[in-house]
Amino acid sequence: MAWLDYLCLILLSTSLSVYAQPNPAQQKRISAAIKNAAHNKTIDWTQFVNPFIGTDNFGDVCPGASVPFGMAKFTVDMTGYAPAGYVVDPTQQVRGLSPLHDSGTGSYGNFEIMPMFCPGGFDTCLTKVEDRLRFRQPDTDDASPGYFTTTLNNSIKLEATSTRRAGLERFTFPKESPKPYFVLDLSNDLPNSFSGGVMDIDPIAGRITLGGKWEPRQAFACYDILDNGKQELSEYGVWTADIYNLDAKGLGLTHLNLTKNLIGGNPYESGALFSYANNPTEINIRVGVSFVSAQQACENAESEIGNSTFEEIRQLSVDLWNAKLSKLEIDVGNTVPNVTEMLYSSVYRSFLTPNNATGEGQGLFANTASPYFDSLYCSWDTFRTFYPWMSLHSPQDFADIVENYIDGWRKNGWLPECHSNNLPGWTQGGSNGVPILADFAVKYHNEAQSLGVDLDELYSALVTDGQVNPPEWNIEGRQINVYKQYGYVPTDVLDTSSTGMQTREGSRTLEYSFNDFGTRQVAQLLGKAGDESYYANRSLSYRNVWDPDVTSDGFKGFMQKRFPNGSFEYSNPIDCSPLDTDENRSCSLQRDNVNGFYESSSWEYSFFAPHDVAHLVELMGGSTPIGYHYADQPAKSIDQVRDVVFTNFGIEPAGLPGNDDQCAMGTWLIFHLLGLYPVPSTTQYLVLSPFLPTYTIHNTELGTSTTVTVEGFDPSSVAPTIPKGASAYVKSVFINGAASASNCHIDFYDTFRVGGNITIQLTSNKSEANDCGGSLPDSLSTGGWANAR
Ligand SMILES: *[C@@H]1O[C@H](CO)[C@@H](O)[C@H](O)[C@H]1NC(C)=O
Ligand SMILES: *[C@@H]1O[C@H](CO)[C@@H](O)[C@H](O)[C@H]1NC(C)=O
Ligand SMILES: *[C@@H]1O[C@H](CO)[C@@H](O)[C@H](O)[C@H]1NC(C)=O
Ligand SMILES: *[C@@H]1O[C@H](CO)[C@@H](O)[C@H](O)[C@H]1NC(C)=O
Ligand SMILES: *[C@@H]1O[C@H](CO)[C@@H](O)[C@H](O)[C@H]1NC(C)=O
Ligand SMILES: *[C@@H]1O[C@H](CO)[C@@H](O)[C@H](O)[C@H]1NC(C)=O
Ligand SMILES: *[C@@H]1O[C@H](CO)[C@@H](O)[C@H](O)[C@H]1NC(C)=O
Ligand SMILES: *[C@@H]1O[C@H](CO)[C@@H](O)[C@H](O)[C@H]1NC(C)=O
Ligand SMILES: *[C@@H]1O[C@H](CO)[C@@H](O)[C@H](O)[C@H]1NC(C)=O
Ligand SMILES: *[C@@H]1O[C@H](CO)[C@@H](O)[C@H](O)[C@H]1NC(C)=O
Ligand SMILES: *[C@@H]1O[C@H](CO)[C@@H](O)[C@H](O)[C@H]1NC(C)=O
Repeated sequence: MAWLDYLCLILLSTSLSVYAQPNPAQQKRISAAIKNAAHNKTIDWTQFVNPFIGTDNFGDVCPGASVPFGMAKFTVDMTGYAPAGYVVDPTQQVRGLSPLHDSGTGSYGNFEIMPMFCPGGFDTCLTKVEDRLRFRQPDTDDASPGYFTTTLNNSIKLEATSTRRAGLERFTFPKESPKPYFVLDLSNDLPNSFSGGVMDIDPIAGRITLGGKWEPRQAFACYDILDNGKQELSEYGVWTADIYNLDAKGLGLTHLNLTKNLIGGNPYESGALFSYANNPTEINIRVGVSFVSAQQACENAESEIGNSTFEEIRQLSVDLWNAKLSKLEIDVGNTVPNVTEMLYSSVYRSFLTPNNATGEGQGLFANTASPYFDSLYCSWDTFRTFYPWMSLHSPQDFADIVENYIDGWRKNGWLPECHSNNLPGWTQGGSNGVPILADFAVKYHNEAQSLGVDLDELYSALVTDGQVNPPEWNIEGRQINVYKQYGYVPTDVLDTSSTGMQTREGSRTLEYSFNDFGTRQVAQLLGKAGDESYYANRSLSYRNVWDPDVTSDGFKGFMQKRFPNGSFEYSNPIDCSPLDTDENRSCSLQRDNVNGFYESSSWEYSFFAPHDVAHLVELMGGSTPIGYHYADQPAKSIDQVRDVVFTNFGIEPAGLPGNDDQCAMGTWLIFHLLGLYPVPSTTQYLVLSPFLPTYTIHNTELGTSTTVTVEGFDPSSVAPTIPKGASAYVKSVFINGAASASNCHIDFYDTFRVGGNITIQLTSNKSEANDCGGSLPDSLSTGGWANAR
């Protein structure tokens, strides 16, 4: 969860190494598709997607087969650090192919299946995880939207394709192979959290149902192993194992019912083992998953796949992906190939998570009538760019997720901050569901009702988070009582009304302030004038942690922690920044994070008041090295963005600077490539310099299309440093033929909402383009955000 913003340069070095995975043919295929598509009338956008970006360097991306927002994501689980199941690292081994994963964060990995040969027969099969591990054959991993494959070093090829809650697996064996066996794992998942489950084998129907609890969540699967009677079983049975030499098999047995192993810590392993008659060279298996029951898992497979073939399901997935990917259209022939690949791979991941588990709610969400999503991770990561990106083109998808947030408020009392693995996650800073809901409200209040969102309920949820102290703000809500009492979140404060990890006081104050601004925006929209001024006032609380006396690197004035008595507590503004020389400093959720800021430094957070940057610039004495748009020096932002993009992002597996979370990284990249940057909770976008000559964004629900054309685009400017003489700086902006009131910002209601044309004229003369040519972006203290649109 790295907060990445062009206002703060997080320069992490990515190492280029030579991989034995994925298959080099994969990149060659993508490059050839980009080259050949130049003159195509209709384009298959999935051909430009590289699902392996982010599968190294702790990107935690799952390259598995998935449909858009699929609950099922089929890939192999690997040894070592591999929270999303797969990693490219060829020194890691395969545990099995499994249907449930999170992309960008991780976990699940339930119900692994592993094909193998057992020359000594049933009783000699290597069933337990540590015995059945296998390296992959070099250069065999491949993936594209809706498809994943790898080949084990015993030459067994694994392939998968999927629907929302089901999938098909195809296993191919070398000619003249011995009898193939399959181990199906009931108990192991990636976090080792098994706490009891049941498995049944029906050899006549050719169906294995299994599932149970991985405390406190539950999951189920249904494996149909006979391919509609085209395959014949040879042997079947159960197995159990543990670390104390237990490694037992029960030929012909069909039932397991195991409780949690209370002593010893190590999970009790178990599952099914079966083989096929007639030495087949290909085996097809249909898999359904559910969070409700094994029966529902079977129904999901029947309704979503039925008797469809692997190729039919794969094509359906490709079609679903094209419907999403084509919301952005570019001129492939005139776009730098790496930009095309980075762009569509990022757009792909922006539709990969969260996982749509509608109809699969459990716990508090069992039988909910609302849409239900898992892997919302975390609002702190996603409010900045993920949802503002979604708002440009997919209001119905956005509304489904917003309704899920509101449902979380209905059932838990506060908006969820993270929700992954069907569990609440840790609050990182503020209650950042607020800017997400506010972003939806300001852009789609006219359509909210028809999109399934009740604005009054949405507003009630915002007010709850702004007024009601939760018993424990570690997982939802804010430490609101002390914040209201002091005007900031004090360090070392007596709080008798709620519990939470008493760290990050500086960054929490800044985020609480920005959350208040989001509530202010919706209050304004709904005509609640009293609330509007109350929350506007509270949104200026960021000023209360500004210590004008602290100096660093020649600059004076920084955000700092503050005691209840008003004194500041000094922490070095450099600490936890990329320039920090102490690699061991605690900067995240550790209990010894005394820095006052979350996953970032005072230096970086000192620029965090997106709703009132003008006042920050003033506090800083006008001489700020960043925030150039607000300092009326937009050309400098453009130089910075080129550098940050090329330093941090690429098309290789290590092409993300850290974990993607819910495509937080990918959507940050999309905006910068498109030359836009959103101000969340508002309808404003800052204008930067696109990395491509033209693009169109289609908003299907609104029925609008908006084409951005870059006049004077120079492909040589697509480089870490813009060469002298290359035109890349914004000289003027036209919206549907009329000059824009500013070259620095545009409004959703004038552009993407109504459709039409945006023309960005570039110049190579930096000084000609280094002012906004009109109004600066809005800030509260200079009269900005005066009217709701
Ligand atoms: C371009 O058209 C060719 C010929 O119809 C087709 O084979 C290819 O898949 C298309 N490429 C893309 C990216 O759509
Ligand atoms: C295949 O992988 C297994 C287990 O990972 C390993 O023991 C074996 O040496 C490998 N075989 C080959 C041919 O590389
Ligand atoms: C599994 O065993 C428990 C007792 O250990 C029992 O309560 C439960 O009904 C059994 N479930 C099945 C499906 O056999
Ligand atoms: C699938 O095929 C089987 C066997 O051919 C048939 O009995 C069944 O009705 C089919 N199911 C569907 C959903 O078409
Ligand atoms: C495209 O990406 C590859 C792989 O990261 C890199 O080697 C190459 O230099 C990039 N090309 C351009 C023009 O940036
Ligand atoms: C989620 O799944 C439900 C049920 O299939 C569907 O109606 C809805 O459109 C999906 N939402 C998204 C965002 O994919
Ligand atoms: C704004 O809040 C401060 C406390 O932070 C309070 O003193 C002041 O009266 C408020 N102003 C308005 C207009 O509500
Ligand atoms: C405020 O409290 C802190 C921590 O207890 C203390 O170090 C500081 O001296 C106090 N400042 C004043 C002005 O009393
Ligand atoms: C960080 O911790 C590691 C492991 O404990 C140690 O080897 C290293 O010297 C530490 N680095 C610094 C800068 O203290
Ligand atoms: C956008 O530009 C195209 C091509 O110049 C033109 O045909 C169209 O009328 C313009 N649309 C609007 C809304 O200005
Ligand atoms: C660049 O623009 C500045 C300001 O508009 C102007 O004074 C200068 O002559 C221009 N330089 C060139 C080389 O055109």
